[in-house]
Amino acid sequence: MTRLPPSSTRIIPDIASVPRHIAVIMDGNGRWAKQRFMPRVAGHQRGVEALREVVVACRELGVEYLTVFAFSSENWRRPADEVSFLMSLFLKMLEREVAKLHKNNICLKIIGDRSRFDDKLRQTMQDAEQLTANNTALTLTIAANYGGRWDVMHAVQTMLTEHPQLAQTFTEADLQPYLSMSDAPEPDLFIRTGGEQRISNFMLWQLAYTELYFTDVLWPAFGRKELETAIASYQKRERRFGRTSEQLLGKQPQAKTDA
Ligand code: IPE
Ligand code: IPE
Ligand code: MG
Repeated sequence: MTRLPPSSTRIIPDIASVPRHIAVIMDGNGRWAKQRFMPRVAGHQRGVEALREVVVACRELGVEYLTVFAFSSENWRRPADEVSFLMSLFLKMLEREVAKLHKNNICLKIIGDRSRFDDKLRQTMQDAEQLTANNTALTLTIAANYGGRWDVMHAVQTMLTEHPQLAQTFTEADLQPYLSMSDAPEPDLFIRTGGEQRISNFMLWQLAYTELYFTDVLWPAFGRKELETAIASYQKRERRFGRTSEQLLGKQPQAKTDA
C-alpha cells in the first residue's frame, strides 16, 4: 500500500511555524479592474503580478507548497471572450515564467481536468511540469479547470478502473493516492481574497481541517504584507482536530486509538 503523506487530520502541525501548505482562491480581479474603470481582463493581468510576488514571498518564508485556484470548472460559464482571454493569459504566463521558476528551483504542477484545453496549452503544461519536476525549493500547484467534486469523482473512477475489486468496499487510504495533490500534505492555511466567504468547489476533500482565512483585499492588491498578515492569523489559531484544548496542552491523556 502507498505510504500516506503527513495528513493534517492525523498529525498536529506545529502552529508556531510557517504553514507547510497554503491554498489560495485568488478572487477579486474583475472588481479590482472595475474600481479603476478598466476592463475585467486588466484585473486578471494584474493578478498574475500578484501571484509572482506571493510565489517569491512563499519561497523566502519557507512555505513548501503553494496551491492556487486559477480557473474553476464553473468558470466556463463566463462570457466567451473572458474565457478565451484567461486561456491565452495562462498560456503566455507559462511560456514567460517557467524558465524563471526553474531558475528559482520551483516545481510547477497543474491539477484539474485538462481534456477541455487545446493541444498547445496541454503540451505547454506538460513541458513546464517536466522541466521543473525535480525542483525542491517550493511546489507551486495551479488548479486549472479544477473542481473539488471533479477531483473526488475522478479519483474514485481511476481507483475502480485500476482495482475493480475495491467496488465492494474501500477506505480513505485506498482512495487517497488517486486524489489531486496526493503527494502533498493537506493545506494548513486557506486564503480567499476578494471578500467572499465560500469555498467555490476548491479542494473539498483536502480542506477538511484547514484553517480558513478570508480577506476583503482584492487579489491584484494582495502581496507579501497581506500574506504575512494571513500567516500571523494562522499562527494564533489552535488546531484541535477533534481533541480538547487540555489534551493538546498535555493536561489530559491522549486517546488510546488516535485515529
Ligand atoms: C478571480 O477573479 C479570477 C478568476 C475567477 C479567473 P474574478 O474574475 O472572479 O474577479 P471578481 O470576483 O469578478 O471581482
Ligand atoms: C473562484 O472564484 C475561482 C477562482 C478564483 C479561480 P469565482 O469568482 O469563480 O467564485 P464565485 O463564482 O464567486 O463563487
Ligand atoms: Mg470572483
